[in-house]
Amino acid sequence: MQDTKREPLIRIRNLRKSFGPLEVLKGIDMEVREGQILALIGPSGSGKSTLLRTINQLEDVTSGEIWFDGTLVNADLPHRAREKHLNALRRNIGMVFQHFNLFPHMTALENVTMAPVLLGLHTKAQARENALRLLAKVGLSDRADYYPSRLSGGQKQRVAIARALAMEPKVMLFDEVTSALDPELVGEVNRTMKQLAEENMTMVIVTHELKFAADTASHIVFMADGRIVEEGPPDQVLRNPLQARTRAFLQQDFAE
Ligand SMILES: Nc1ncnc2c1ncn2[C@@H]1O[C@H](COP(=O)(O)OP(=O)(O)O)[C@@H](O)[C@H]1O
Ligand SMILES: [Mg+2]
Repeated sequence: MQDTKREPLIRIRNLRKSFGPLEVLKGIDMEVREGQILALIGPSGSGKSTLLRTINQLEDVTSGEIWFDGTLVNADLPHRAREKHLNALRRNIGMVFQHFNLFPHMTALENVTMAPVLLGLHTKAQARENALRLLAKVGLSDRADYYPSRLSGGQKQRVAIARALAMEPKVMLFDEVTSALDPELVGEVNRTMKQLAEENMTMVIVTHELKFAADTASHIVFMADGRIVEEGPPDQVLRNPLQARTRAFLQQDFAE
């Protein structure tokens, strides 16, 4: 159950990000509570990926604050302390991207066991047991010993999800993880995310699939041109949007 009195797991305050003269995040305020499934939608170029990438500091920020689990993510730290800080942060934030980045010379199982062993989270035996459990969870028990080149795009994305879960993260970030897939493979990856949602994994999902967002998310955030235009429950934002900009986006999308 959601406990509204607790601090949100992620709290973003007046976040700004520029690439040279181009300001792509223009003062974002956003919260993600434990167990929340937040879908981030909006037109291409509105800053969704950049926002996601600032949360685990794949992108630094120009100004503002990002808090994760009570820690200031973008704290100004000396080099060594910052390395340590980033490792701890990334260990707790799982991320899956549009383009599978599995290690091609490792089997599915090895892809999932590598990081937990390398970082001393699990022994080899524990990591293997855990990885087999996670591969079963994403429906790939029979593919543990396959190399990525022999997996379909949908299977690779499910291995990527299992690999991120192996670190036992507190939140999972997904950036358009189905948009490079053949249409017939989208469903299996969406089902995996839906299952995680049902298990109360905290998730931020960037997606252009509004039906999936409506079915899965507990909260929708609509972004356009570097700002949050509107947010709320799916029924409100997707079916009865308050802002003209949101309505225009939804109409355009449904017309496609
Ligand atoms: N590394 C970068 N350097 C310069 N501009 C970038 C970079 N990354 C993203 N942008 C620009 O920032 C804007 C927002 O991009 P992005 O966050 O990828 O949007 P979205 O994910 O919503 O499509 C775009 O105009 C994009 O061209
Ligand atoms: Mg993007």
